[in-house]
Amino acid sequence: MNVVLLGPPGVGKGTQGVFLTSKPGWTRIVTGDLLREAVTVGSTLGVKAEKYMSRGHLVPDALIVALVRDHLVNFYSKGNLVFDGFPRTEAQASELTEILALLENSIDTLIVLEAEDQALVERINGRRSCPDCNAIYNVHTSPPETSGICDTEGSTLIHRTDDKLETVISRLGVYKTETEPVIGYYEQMGAKVCRVDGNKDVGEVRKLVFQALGM
Ligand code: AP5
Repeated sequence: MNVVLLGPPGVGKGTQGVFLTSKPGWTRIVTGDLLREAVTVGSTLGVKAEKYMSRGHLVPDALIVALVRDHLVNFYSKGNLVFDGFPRTEAQASELTEILALLENSIDTLIVLEAEDQALVERINGRRSCPDCNAIYNVHTSPPETSGICDTEGSTLIHRTDDKLETVISRLGVYKTETEPVIGYYEQMGAKVCRVDGNKDVGEVRKLVFQALGM
C-alpha cells in the first residue's frame, strides 16, 4: 500500500507518519527532513532550498521532484510507502504518478489531516525537534523526559527556523492555495481520499488514520 499524508503545517503528518513506519514493511519519505539535511550539509540543493524554506515558500517543483526521484531510485524496496510533505502541488502529484508507474506502482490512499489554524500555530510554537534523529516533541503535549534534550540521541532540541510566526502564516497560505488542489488530483485519479480530524489528541488521530488504512 502507498499512502500520501497531506495537511497544513503542524497538523501532525510527521507524528502520524512515525506511527505508520513503526510497523514492519513501511518506509517513510519526508521531503522536509531531506531538505533540512541538505541545508545542514550545505549541498547545492540545500543552498537553493534554504531561500524558499526560510520564507515559508515551496521549493520549486523541479528541485523537489529530482530529490524524490533520486531517493526512490536509491532506496526503493517493495513494501508500503508513506509520503510525508510530498506531493505539495498538482505538478508534483503528476510527477509522482509517473515515477511510481515506472516502478509498476501507484498511490492507493490520500490521508488528509485537518485542524484549525489557531491550533496549528500553537502546536508549531511548542514544537521542538531533534537535529540528529528528527524526533518530534512538544513542550506542552509531548515533552521529552529531560527538558530540551532528545530522549533517544541526548542532543539539544531545536525550534525550527521556519517555525517563526510570520513564516508559519506564509506556510498556511501556501498550503491553501498550492497544496489543497492536490486533493482534487487524487480524487480524479480514483485514489481513496480520507479526511481525518487532526484536532483530536495524538492517540485518537492515530486510531482514525489506522482505521482509514484498514490497519
Ligand atoms: P515540512 O517539514 O514538510 O513542514 P510542514 O508541511 O509545514 O509540516 P510540519 O513539519 O510543520 O508539521 P507536521 O504536519 O509534520 O506536524 P508535526 O507532526 O511535526 O516542510 C518544511 C518546508 O520545506 C516547506 O515550507 C517548504 O519550504 C519545504 N518543502 C517540503 N516539502 C516540499 C515539497 N514537496 N515541495 C516544495 N517545498 C517543500 O506536529 C507539529 C507539533 O504538534 C509537534 O510538536 C507535535 O508533537 C504536535 N502534535 C502533533 N499532532 C498533535 C495532536 N493531534 N494534538 C496535539 N499536538 C499534536
